[in-house]
Amino acid sequence: MALLFYSREDDPVAWKAALEARLPDLEVRIWPDLGDPEAIDTALVWRPPPGLLAGLPNLRAVFSLGAGVDALLADPTLPAVPLCRMVDPSLTRSMSEYALALALFYHRRLDLYEERQRRARWEMEMPRPAASTTVGVMGLGELGADAARSLVAHGFRVRGWSRGRKAIEGVASFAGGEELGAFLEGLDIVICLLPLTPETENILDADLFARLPRGACLVHLARGAHLVERDLLDAVERGHLRGAVIDVFREEPLPADHPFWRHPRIRVTPHTASYSLPETGAEVVADNIRRLREGRPLRHVVRRERGY
Ligand code: NAP
Ligand code: GLV
Repeated sequence: MALLFYSREDDPVAWKAALEARLPDLEVRIWPDLGDPEAIDTALVWRPPPGLLAGLPNLRAVFSLGAGVDALLADPTLPAVPLCRMVDPSLTRSMSEYALALALFYHRRLDLYEERQRRARWEMEMPRPAASTTVGVMGLGELGADAARSLVAHGFRVRGWSRGRKAIEGVASFAGGEELGAFLEGLDIVICLLPLTPETENILDADLFARLPRGACLVHLARGAHLVERDLLDAVERGHLRGAVIDVFREEPLPADHPFWRHPRIRVTPHTASYSLPETGAEVVADNIRRLREGRPLRHVVRRERGY
């Protein structure tokens, strides 16, 4: 049986080689060269066109190249087979690195110095210890929990918000909608690492920004549809938020005429916060294929009723 690989962003040749090195009897077919669809029993995909997977009659499992599976779940024709998301050390490490880098960006006031440089103004601010900055991580799953640990290791004061309460050393845990307000109160920096679900869509809105103290910063690394873009522009323009780094957008690539591109206090990065390397990600997928073949439980299966 064969695996179908589909991604417009990941290198198919590198993934095929990494998978076949681990499972020499696995035939990896790279879209659009499907061959006989009946011979395909697994698929490894990133944002496949709706309907592609429904055309594989003998599919037994779908593996996502990404941690977030919102696009897959939005396909009404997605076959009712196990869907496993990517949980991979390189994806986790690169996300923690990015979250830490951006927390440090605001903590060390590099945004302020960028602005002063534009006016050739030599004026220093006395650096403050990391413990004077409180960072809140929304979502304490694979990525958020690791990012929170990295922030703690760096000396930041760290809070996390999730559905259920967590025990992560050095992280103050807040759970559920009723504790969202207490989580946000007094944060200097908020980092969003939530999955996109009907419950979290539009969560980064005027109401949430109003619960942050004046001068807070937003680092948004999750999904475009979490953010109400007009509300962010308004909060930044009024000076309520000091600034934002946004990595994910409702429309990607971000259209050239989008106001975020030219806003002096909104920074845009092109959905680049973290990525899964074939060297490590292929082992995660190979492990699940072995499990499937041997009838053992798969790992990282998405709970569809929850949406993540
Ligand atoms: P995960 O392991 O599934 O963790 C999700 C976390 O969010 C969990 O802690 C969960 O709480 C919490 N959560 C879910 N719904 C919630 C709600 N309604 N209220 C409060 N907390 C809620 O996901 P992950 O692997 O960390 O990935 C998170 C997201 O990062 C992905 O879904 C994707 O959108 C994004 N991402 C972005 C990039 C990028 O390059 N920008 C790369 C990878 C991933 P419980 O633990 O209590 O269930
Ligand atoms: C990337 O955005 C992912 O979900 O892995």
